[in-house]
Amino acid sequence: MDAIGIDIGGTKIAGAVVTELGEIVAEERVATEAGDSDAIVDAVVAMIESLAAGRDIGAAGVAAPGFIDAAQSTVYYTPNIPWRGEPLRDRLVERLDLDITIDNDANAAGWAEFRFGAGRLVSDMTMLTIGTGVGGAIVTRDQLFRGGFGAGAELGHMRVVPDGLPCGCGARGCIEQYGSGRALLRMANAIADVGGIGQALARVRDQNGKLSGHDVSALLVENDPGALAALRELGHWLGQACASLSAVLDPQLFVFGGGVSVAGDLLLDPVREAYVAHLPARGYHPEPEFVIAELVNDAGVVGAADLARVHLGLR
Ligand code: BGC
Ligand code: NA
Ligand code: ZN
Repeated sequence: MDAIGIDIGGTKIAGAVVTELGEIVAEERVATEAGDSDAIVDAVVAMIESLAAGRDIGAAGVAAPGFIDAAQSTVYYTPNIPWRGEPLRDRLVERLDLDITIDNDANAAGWAEFRFGAGRLVSDMTMLTIGTGVGGAIVTRDQLFRGGFGAGAELGHMRVVPDGLPCGCGARGCIEQYGSGRALLRMANAIADVGGIGQALARVRDQNGKLSGHDVSALLVENDPGALAALRELGHWLGQACASLSAVLDPQLFVFGGGVSVAGDLLLDPVREAYVAHLPARGYHPEPEFVIAELVNDAGVVGAADLARVHLGLR
């Protein structure tokens, strides 16, 4: 049965019709009006209607960037969109004649990697999505882990710095503030301020008024020492977090996805370095592999569609 997957991101909403084999047969995307909850709901309804038109669709899964309840119906909280206790499923079901399931965006991406991508050969995998925020997905014994109230695997909100930087979740010192795309920009700006290896970053910042993710990627491609230093700092934070995650979850594989993961080994090398430096009982137990996600931009929509099938008991 084909299903629709929708991925609500901070900058765009993506949607696709996805087969049981994880293949995309149709795709759409629009920009997100991030401050406007009604506009997001309208856009999701329009996208599902348009993707379903003239097709035999069994269900739709909608991935949202926040804490989701166990019934996969309500968005408890989104750090980067103003949803608080949002009955997203009800609002969609009211307007659509289709089974709808809500899931966390990183859970969806992680599930897609586990079923069809980088994680298909393991039983236990942990995924981190490195974009605007830091998302997490945990697969243990071939099952997605959700926790007791649905909102588990919010790995971006593990505290790594006591009383550190304030986070969109209301707490302080979360890995999201040290390992996300936004954190990378903050680090790049700090390096630009100092001069020295930050000269190229400072020059681009002066030219464009501010640094963008695009600017930092472009400098990474040129092996600019300032941009590389910022990425190393980010990778070191993430590697330390993975060492702690290993003590809890002992995954066979860590998968890195999200926009920043296009940096590939430039990101994974410092992650591995910090990981081994902080791993408890290092040398006395097997160590996981670190890889980049395979489905890249499609993971969210593919996973959301497949999880809608799982929710209906069709998987
Ligand atoms: C949210 C997560 C989400 C992640 C990536 C975090 O701030 O708490 O629910 O998965 O961002 O979008
Ligand atoms: Na998650
Ligand atoms: Zn947080």
